[in-house]
This record gives sequence, C-alpha cells and structure tokens, in this order.
Amino acid sequence: MNAVLSPTLPDVDEGLEGVIAARTVLSDVDGARGRLILRGHALDEIATRWRYEQVLALLFEDFFPEIEGESLALALGQARSRAHALIEPGDAARLAARPPIEALRTLLSRVPDGEDVATALLLVAGMAVFTAAHARWSRGEAALAPDANQPHAADTLRLVSGRAPTRMQALALDTYLVTVSDHGLNASTFAARVVASTRAGLTSAVLAGLSALKGPLHGGAPGPVLDMLDAIGSADQARSWLEAALARGDRLMGFGHRVYRVRDPRADALKAALALLAADAPQSTGRAHLAEAVEQAALALLREKKQGRALETNVEFYTALLLDALGFAREDFTCVFAMGRVAGWLAHAREQIGTRRLVRPQSVYAGPRAQEQGQGQGQAQG
Ligand code: ACO
Repeated sequence: MNAVLSPTLPDVDEGLEGVIAARTVLSDVDGARGRLILRGHALDEIATRWRYEQVLALLFEDFFPEIEGESLALALGQARSRAHALIEPGDAARLAARPPIEALRTLLSRVPDGEDVATALLLVAGMAVFTAAHARWSRGEAALAPDANQPHAADTLRLVSGRAPTRMQALALDTYLVTVSDHGLNASTFAARVVASTRAGLTSAVLAGLSALKGPLHGGAPGPVLDMLDAIGSADQARSWLEAALARGDRLMGFGHRVYRVRDPRADALKAALALLAADAPQSTGRAHLAEAVEQAALALLREKKQGRALETNVEFYTALLLDALGFAREDFTCVFAMGRVAGWLAHAREQIGTRRLVRPQSVYAGPRAQEQGQGQGQAQG
C-alpha cells in the first residue's frame, strides 16, 4: 500500500519523548532523581501533611486569582452542592450500569463551558460528587447530598459510604489527592492543554483530560493491579505467575514509567499513607503482605528479563492498595485519580490560555503521493 518514501523524511518520535511542548510553573518531574516538585514544594514534604484544598490553592494561585485560602475551601464545599443539583431524577436508572468513567463524563458534560473560577470549582466538585453518586447507584443506593462545611476528602468518603470517615481515612484520601494533583506534561494534562488552547472552555479541557486518563497505560492501571494481585492469590505464587505474564509479553501493571528511571516518589507517599491506615485499621489493608511480595518479585524479574530498562514501581501500584483499603471499588479507581488530577488539568488549562497560542504541531506526510503531485514530500499545514 505504501508508496515509496523519501529517504529525507525527518525522524518522528511517535510518543513525543523528549519534546518540550509547554513552559510551566506548576510541577517539575525529575525522572532521574525520582523527585516531584509541586510549585516549589517537594511532594514528600507535603503529601501526608496537606489537605487537598491546600494543593488546589497552590496550583490555582495566579491562574484563578479571584479565590484563595480559606475562601477556596468553603467555595469548593458550595460547589459540591451545586454539582449535586446537576444530578437529574432519572440518572440513577440511566447511568447505574454504565462504566463509572462514562457516567462521570456524562455528568461532567452538564457543567457549562467557561474559563472562570466558578466553572473550575464546579468541575473539581463534580468529579467527587458524581463519582460518589455513581458508586452508590451501582450498589442500588441513592446519591447523598454534600455537606459544604466538611473538608473535601472527608465529605467525598461520606458521600460514597454514607458514614463519616475516621481521621486517618480522611488523611489517607487527602494524601492520595495531593499526590496525584499534578505531574508535568503527562498525556491527560497535554490533552487538556491542547483543548484549552483552542479556547473551547474548561469543561471541554477537563473532559479531554479525563478521556486520556482512562487508558490502561495512564490512569486505568490501578484496577488491573488489584486484578493481578487477586490472580496471584498468595505470595509463594508471585514469581511463577509474573514470569508467565512476562513470557506472554504482558506488561506488569503498576511498574514502569515514561519519565521516572528510579522509583516513582508518589509510590512512596502512598505507601506511607497505607502504613498509617494499617496502623489505624489493620483489617482494611489485608492485601499489604501479598502486595509487598508481588512488588519484590516483579522488580527482581523486570531486572532479569528487561535488562537495559530501568523499570520500577509506579504510582498506580500503591494507588490500588490505598483506594481499596478506603473502600472504593476497583472500577472507580480511575475516577478517584481524576478527582485529584483535575486540579492540575485546570491550572494547566489556564496557564495555556495565558500563552494566547493555539497548540498546532506538524505531521510529516508518509502516505502515497498523488499521481499529479510534483517532487518532494509535503508537510501537513491545514
Ligand atoms: N511490564 C513489562 N515490561 C515493561 C513494562 C511493564 N510494566 N513497562 C515497560 N516495559 C518494557 C516493555 O518491554 C517495553 O518494550 P517494548 O516496546 O518492546 O514492548 C519497554 O519496557 C518500554 O520501556 P519504556 O520506554 O520505559 O516505557 P514506555 O515509556 O513505553 O511506557 C508505561 C511507560 C506505559 C507506563 C509502561 O511502563 C507500562 O505499560 N506500564 C504498565 C502500565 C502502568 O502501570 N501504567 C501506569 C503508569 S503511571 C501513570 O500514568 C499515572
């Protein structure tokens, strides 16, 4: 099918690896040293200390100057109530059986597009309120009304379970949301920035980010991590199960990263939160021993079988364990990831809008040439 290609076609990295496509003040991912900086703050210094509202204020600063500090926490609580009001009477019946991420996209698309802080807060709030509502519908329960005076993480856990969480549970969800709030120009953030650059609005940008996040190579991995642990079943089976998976050419979920060549610092932050939760409620973290054995076996095997590649534990491995311990169903894990990452998508979207530049890279034409076309390879310009 392919016509003769010009030997002068430029090289293309299909994954855009190493391409710098944005200047950001929001986060710095140091893949060689395994460090993540969120606007001047090292993740390991804030992960278990900050509430989600604090990291939201940090990322929104200058991009949404209308709101800050204490007023942001209350405004976010009120936005949860406004998001709840967007739920329609027939939604439970219509959406309960749909995959959570599809239900979330449907409900979020009701937020009118805009570029202002009210739209941004409604999107952050909606991510939590709609995920919780769907979790309850899928169990045959009614969605609960938010409490605007509660902290975001604690209210989210109550909206899912119907019970006020313990202090440690709320801290663990805050740790998770802070940990995943932003991470350089990952695939979903890039998607959000591209859409924002067209001035389509923040809802469109967030929906683009959510759609990119859904894939198993990005935010869709933690559910499959639990599936893997279930399939392995016991620590003594770990090595043989993983060896067979690698022999089939499968990727081990929760390992490897495009940027990190050492351990993902987010994995350690989440492991620390899991340890706090285990000390508080040991029964909730029953998979921890198996997970430890699987992690060690996987790392040893990846070193043996994938020599020359530095494949380490990534954020998704401990995400799976932490969210499971907090009572989220594995089908909901990607939505909970989006609850945290929406902060980064929105700040990046506003940062991109501020550049006043449409994102428009080029492609190299490598298809057949039209008969009448003259010499030379064209570059798409339209
Ligand atoms: N298991 C087995 N082999 C792997 C894994 C893995 N988890 N990750 C990479 N490799 C191997 C593959 O053999 C691949 O070689 P191939 O091209 O011959 O198939 C090679 O290493 C690719 O290495 P990298 O260039 O370092 O990885 P890449 O940047 O292409 O992919 C990715 C990164 C998608 C995260 C990959 O490691 C992967 O699929 N991991 C499993 C899924 C996962 O955990 N995703 C969550 C990532 S974290 C996040 O997005 C929030």
